[in-house]
This record gives sequence, C-alpha cells and structure tokens, in this order.
Amino acid sequence: MENGPFDFRSKTALVTGASSGFGAHFATVLAERGANVVVAARRKQRLDALVARIVDEGGKALAVEADVTRVESVAAMYDAAESAFGTVGIVCNNAGIVESKLAVDVDEAGFDRVLDTNLKGVWAVASEAARRLIAAGRPGSIVNIASVLGLRVSVSQSVYATSKAAVVQLTRSLALEWGRKGIRVNALCPGYFVTDMNRAYLESRHGKAYIAGTPARRCGELDELTWPFLLLAGEAGAFINGAAIPVDGGHHVAGI
Ligand SMILES: NC(=O)c1ccc[n+]([C@@H]2O[C@H](COP(=O)([O-])OP(=O)(O)OC[C@H]3O[C@@H](n4cnc5c(N)ncnc54)[C@H](OP(=O)(O)O)[C@@H]3O)[C@@H](O)[C@H]2O)c1
Repeated sequence: MENGPFDFRSKTALVTGASSGFGAHFATVLAERGANVVVAARRKQRLDALVARIVDEGGKALAVEADVTRVESVAAMYDAAESAFGTVGIVCNNAGIVESKLAVDVDEAGFDRVLDTNLKGVWAVASEAARRLIAAGRPGSIVNIASVLGLRVSVSQSVYATSKAAVVQLTRSLALEWGRKGIRVNALCPGYFVTDMNRAYLESRHGKAYIAGTPARRCGELDELTWPFLLLAGEAGAFINGAAIPVDGGHHVAGI
C-alpha cells in the first residue's frame, strides 16, 4: 500500500452500481488502496461476491442493496454505510442504464427509466451525501460518472445523452454550492469500454466498425479509468472542483 495522495486508508467510500462493470472496478481499486468501501446496487448476490473478493485480498467492504431511483432507499443505504464505517467521505455516483433507440421509438416509460436512474439517482445520492457531510462538518469528494455522450451526441442515444449532459451540469452546479463546505464534485466522462451495458453492440459488426472510426480506434481498458478516477476521488485532486474530464482516447474531439 502506498502513502501520499493516492492513499485511501482511513477513508470511507461508497460506490453505486457496483454489481458489475465500472462500479466493481472502482470499488476494487479504492479497497486496494485502503478505503472502507460500501458497494451498492440492486443485485445483492453480485455485491456479496465482490465483497468476498475484496475481503479475501485484505480489504474492508460492505454490500448494501439499494435502488438509486428511490430516495428512501438512498437514505437507508447511507444509514447502513454509516453504521459500518462512519460518515461517507467519497462517493462514486456510477449507477446508470442505457436505452438505445431512435428518438421516435422512445416511449414515456423508457424516458422516465433512464432519467430516473441516470439523473435523479445521481442527484439523490449526491444530495444525501452532502447533507450528511455538512451535518458532520466533514469534507468530501463526489465523482459522478457521466459519459462522452454528455459532451457529444450519437444516433439512438437521445435520452441517454440528455441524461449524461444533465449530469455534467448538475456536477458543476453542486460544485459551485458545496465547494465552500469542502465538498468537491466532479464528473468523469468515459468513452466506450466493454461492459454488460454495451457488450452485445460493441462485439457486433456494426459496433466494431463504429469503434474503428474513433480517434483511438479501440475501446478503453478498465485500468485506463483507474488513475483519472482516483485523481478526482482523493487528495491528488484536492483543487479540482466542477470539472468534467473525458477519458475516451479523444473521442470527444473526433472530427465531423
Ligand atoms: N461502459 C461504457 O462504455 C460507459 C461509457 C460511459 C459511461 N458509462 C457509465 O458508467 C456507469 C457504469 O456503467 P457500466 O458500463 O459499468 O454498465 P453496467 O455493467 O451495466 O453497470 C451498471 C450498474 O448500474 C447499476 N444500476 C442500474 N440501475 C440501478 C438502480 N436503479 N439502482 C442501483 N444501481 C443500479 C447496476 O446494478 P443492478 O442492476 O444490480 O442494480 C450495475 O451495477 C453508468 O453510469 C454508465 O452510463 C459507461
């Protein structure tokens, strides 16, 4: 374990959407650096398996079943986290879903589902964290997982891209309000990484052709998110607030 700005010993972190993909990765890299990690999502069995892996490696973790679209579930998630490890100082607001449809095919239920999870969920998880940090008089760091699609648009992604652009604006607004309380709020804007969310598309002929046309001509590797995430989450990013950092091999500056 290291000393210095990437040392997370004595920190308590909470990661939503930790039952797969990015969230499981972020939880693991925080635990490897000494954080007490609370992992949250709806699929508890997957969280339990992640906690078992972290504990096996000598880390400390707690699994909490939670649905970020329900504010009472979010409050209960923080209650459980506090009982185990005390006030949560680092939040990774990562839970998210996608709905890939042409705009004319999107129905009300799909629109609500994506906005409830990707925007309302991020708002609920960040706000509850901030209220508790302010009440405890403690500093904190919130990392919202937005997307390159919060900065650019793509066919069949109107609702998802809108939700992620809103996350970028929410990030800036919360950073403005909470900076004076010592709570930093930043966003990561990943490009395309293969996870459960998009594997079928990215492994299809159409998906491969799309990726071949991006500046990096490949998807990202999960490890390529590690340091940008830890930078925003911890002391290394102590003076970074309200930023939305693309980690996308330059996808956000692709030529038109
Ligand atoms: N993969 C990419 O290329 C990419 C690029 C840019 C941004 N992102 C963003 O990165 C984040 C993670 O995505 P991923 O790629 O890792 O996809 P993933 O493997 O599908 O993970 C999504 C996670 O969100 C959780 N989740 C969904 N709805 C939830 C709810 N209502 N309450 C609590 N948890 C919920 C899921 O857990 P349960 O189903 O168990 O609840 C799951 O753990 C998302 O916000 C996504 O938009 C991904």
